[in-house]
Amino acid sequence: MIYKKKLIEVALPLEAINVASAREKSIRHGHPSTLHLWWARRPLAAARAVIFAQMVDDPSAHPDIFPTEKKQEKERQRLFRIIEELVKWENTTNETLLQQAREEIWQSWRYTCAENAGHPRAKELFDRYKLPAFHDPFAGGGALPLEAQRLGLESYASDLNPVAVLINKAMIEIPPKFAGKQPVNPEWQQKSIAGKMGREWKGAQGLAEDVRYYGQWMRDEAEKRIGHLYPKIEVTAAMAEERPDLKKYVGGKLTVIAWLWARTVKSPNPAFSNVDVPLAACRN
Ligand SMILES: C[S@@+](CC[C@H](N)C(=O)[O-])C[C@H]1O[C@@H](n2cnc3c(N)ncnc32)[C@H](O)[C@@H]1O
Repeated sequence: MIYKKKLIEVALPLEAINVASAREKSIRHGHPSTLHLWWARRPLAAARAVIFAQMVDDPSAHPDIFPTEKKQEKERQRLFRIIEELVKWENTTNETLLQQAREEIWQSWRYTCAENAGHPRAKELFDRYKLPAFHDPFAGGGALPLEAQRLGLESYASDLNPVAVLINKAMIEIPPKFAGKQPVNPEWQQKSIAGKMGREWKGAQGLAEDVRYYGQWMRDEAEKRIGHLYPKIEVTAAMAEERPDLKKYVGGKLTVIAWLWARTVKSPNPAFSNVDVPLAACRN
């Protein structure tokens, strides 16, 4: 195989990638981190940048087009500008920019295919109309396969941990199957029958609408069946003595954010023989 040096082997605009990666940590809305907790999650910005830079040739690999170091550096800087835009969170769904990035990847791939036309398995391995697929066998939270898919590669993910597999299924495998489809939940079906819909469902928007609808349905059902086990708690003056921040809520009711369930036994202390004592220890 005739190999061409990739951009990642020469240089990356690290400052821009670092800034975007750090910023991503505080983004909640629309970020995969809100789908499910994953401990070793990699920033999407970094994943996007490294996949792009692995797929795109470094200009020094094309001395016929960029014969001098100066020309190579100028071209490298052009690719850097694309990466600097690509890593910004706001551009995650910027189709114009993503299409530009995909086109760069295709361009490098076409060069690779042309150079390897004489390879004995060229038809199968170097098809200029089919990008190589991407597989992350240790996909974890799925940052890399998600970004590979975004950059136009056919993406596969696997992992030893079933939680990681579930995250990747939800993020990479299922949404493309419903791409462009309208929701199927009864609320939208009614609207569709009434002819009130008339909108275009881009990407996974229809699926997201269904996830919201059925997620709410499950929440409501859970509340109906077990909600009584999680009552709101009245804030008393005694509570506010230990927690002055609760003072303004005294007499009111607040939602408890965490419950600890414990078995209880009758108190072995004869002075409290009718009192139920929780079998739980508290460590500070
Ligand atoms: C550092 S994490 C990957 C993080 C991931 N790149 C991300 O962005 O979230 C490494 C992953 O490898 C998985 N793993 C470890 N040993 C494995 C094995 N033998 N086969 C498959 N997956 C394995 C772990 O379950 C873990 O999810």
